[in-house]
Amino acid sequence: MPAEFHPRTKVTTESIFSRMSRLALQHGAINLGQGFPSNPPPGFLLEAARRALGRVDQYTPPPGLPALREALAEDLGVTPEQVIVTAGATEALSSLADSLYGEGDEVVMLEPYFDAYLPQTLMVGAKPVLVPMRLQPTDSGSPGGGWELDLEALEAAITPRSKVLLLNSPYNPTGSVFSREELEAIVALARRHDLWVISDEVYDELYFGAPPTPLRTLAPERVFTVGSAGKRLEATGWRIGWIVTPPGLAPEVAGMRQWSSFCSAAPLQAAVAEALPLARAEGFYAELRESYGRRKDLLAQGLRGMGLEVFEPQGTYFLTVRMPEIGAEVLVQEARVAIIPGSAFYASSPPPQGLYRFAFCKTADDIEQALERLERFLRVRG
Ligand SMILES: Cc1ncc(COP(=O)(O)O)c(C=O)c1O
Repeated sequence: MPAEFHPRTKVTTESIFSRMSRLALQHGAINLGQGFPSNPPPGFLLEAARRALGRVDQYTPPPGLPALREALAEDLGVTPEQVIVTAGATEALSSLADSLYGEGDEVVMLEPYFDAYLPQTLMVGAKPVLVPMRLQPTDSGSPGGGWELDLEALEAAITPRSKVLLLNSPYNPTGSVFSREELEAIVALARRHDLWVISDEVYDELYFGAPPTPLRTLAPERVFTVGSAGKRLEATGWRIGWIVTPPGLAPEVAGMRQWSSFCSAAPLQAAVAEALPLARAEGFYAELRESYGRRKDLLAQGLRGMGLEVFEPQGTYFLTVRMPEIGAEVLVQEARVAIIPGSAFYASSPPPQGLYRFAFCKTADDIEQALERLERFLRVRG
């Protein structure tokens, strides 16, 4: 009898995003499921990578290539010593899980949650505590497009075992951007209960109204920020992410992180280091927002035109729609449009029915075609 896998392997299966992308390919469906752009990354990033190959090819120090730590520090208004470069935001989050919590600890997070949060918490033996966002009808005037943060419920979920608050703004999947007042209330709560805060800000440059407040600016002593070059520079496969730690706390996290991937791809770190100041100076993020804003409006108008309730996002490249409960697998096979069922972002039972997350980081052509296919499918079904 061969040895058995550790029970921790049971906490995770193929993610819904991978499954829907696989099914989309299999059925020739348009993929508005997984959040990756259908266009290539910007030319200035690709050129920087070509220049780096053959020049920056060996291990970098585990906290990151010094040039990238410096570029990130400059961009984010922190010191290079606070920055740790990781293999995507996913590794940033798992390194923080390894460093900040474990057996017996509780991690308080909002539901719906980004999919990695739950398995990463369970894999280190900690307990996720889920606090539901309230979903109000779209005509309720809620600034979050119907999604509301329930601060009282958040505080009520905290116990003496709570160690960390894990937040995401701009928020995947809801598209909410927390206001400065909400963030101040969260910080006050974290201070009252002496919690670390992990602020996942991978969509920090993807907002459609006022710029989001970086949470670390309100509580530098306890906030760990997570970021992603994949999201900012439209290169999700490059796997370059980062952590900004509170001052003085990087060595412990970098020490843990060196035993997972040791360092991220050196030439790609060099390319991102060159691209970050260029992106800022040349208005790349403003263009990105404009271009995503147009595609958001195209998708939202098309869906509203079918009589569906659309929860307008304030940030990210996702929007939530309420529509008749049809399995996402039926949609991918019969309508040939891949989207993510809202239930994928819930662990509580029963999850809300009839909510779907659409990604609009795809071409306008893809979005138009997906709308036509969906409209035809819904019309035929009646
Ligand atoms: C909220 C959130 N955090 C983290 C990640 C992971 O980012 P990365 O691709 O850099 O690992 C994603 C990716 O979709 C995300 O939406």
